[in-house]
Amino acid sequence: MLPEVIQTSRLALRPFRFADVPEFFACLQDPDMGQYLEGSGKPPTREQTAHIVARHILADRNERCVWAITIDDVVVGAITISFAKEQRIAEIGYSVKKPLWGQGITSEAAGAVVDAAFAHMPDLQRIQASIHPGNAGSIRAAAKAGLAYEATLRAYSFVHGEVSDEVICAIVRSDWQQSQDPNR
Ligand SMILES: CC(C)(COP(=O)(O)OP(=O)(O)OC[C@H]1O[C@@H](n2cnc3c(N)ncnc32)[C@H](O)[C@@H]1OP(=O)(O)O)[C@@H](O)C(=O)NCCC(=O)NCCS
Repeated sequence: MLPEVIQTSRLALRPFRFADVPEFFACLQDPDMGQYLEGSGKPPTREQTAHIVARHILADRNERCVWAITIDDVVVGAITISFAKEQRIAEIGYSVKKPLWGQGITSEAAGAVVDAAFAHMPDLQRIQASIHPGNAGSIRAAAKAGLAYEATLRAYSFVHGEVSDEVICAIVRSDWQQSQDPNR
């Protein structure tokens, strides 16, 4: 089981609370937030945001762990890791509010989740991210967290009514172990 709270140099990754709904709603209102994501592409309403937060709070942590990315206890984004194949494979996803893009927040949060997952789950072999090919910031953030470009799946997803390719970036346990070697 992964820690409920993960501290990094600038961030605290912690469980969502119902009190986070207004702040998280504000994070999601910029239309660019959903530009590359499946779904309607429209920012969620306050009620939809409350449902999202409720799902995050109620998630079965054996299947999916979600953390609010916070600075000074204020939510600035979210990061999730979902498990499959009897917990040998995981998929990571993240979002950070637009005014803070490009400050390394996602790569810092994703790197910490990758470290925690491999450290706490000895059977875990692989963590991947599935990203729209146009989402250069996400591909770069994944790379900075150790998830290297692996493949482009053609016509794999459907984003805002359009068939889209999907980029797969991944880190496997042996990559992670090498990255932990102080003599490398
Ligand atoms: C994707 C997302 C989470 C990245 O968050 P972030 O906190 O800005 O990420 P980071 O700052 O850690 O890293 C982003 C990197 O990409 C770079 N980048 C951003 N936009 C870019 C672009 N259009 N082209 C090339 N590089 C870009 C940044 O400069 C940064 O690299 P650097 O540190 O070497 O300068 C954020 O854009 C977001 O929330 N988007 C909406 C939701 C989403 O698409 N989530 C991902 C689903 S797969």
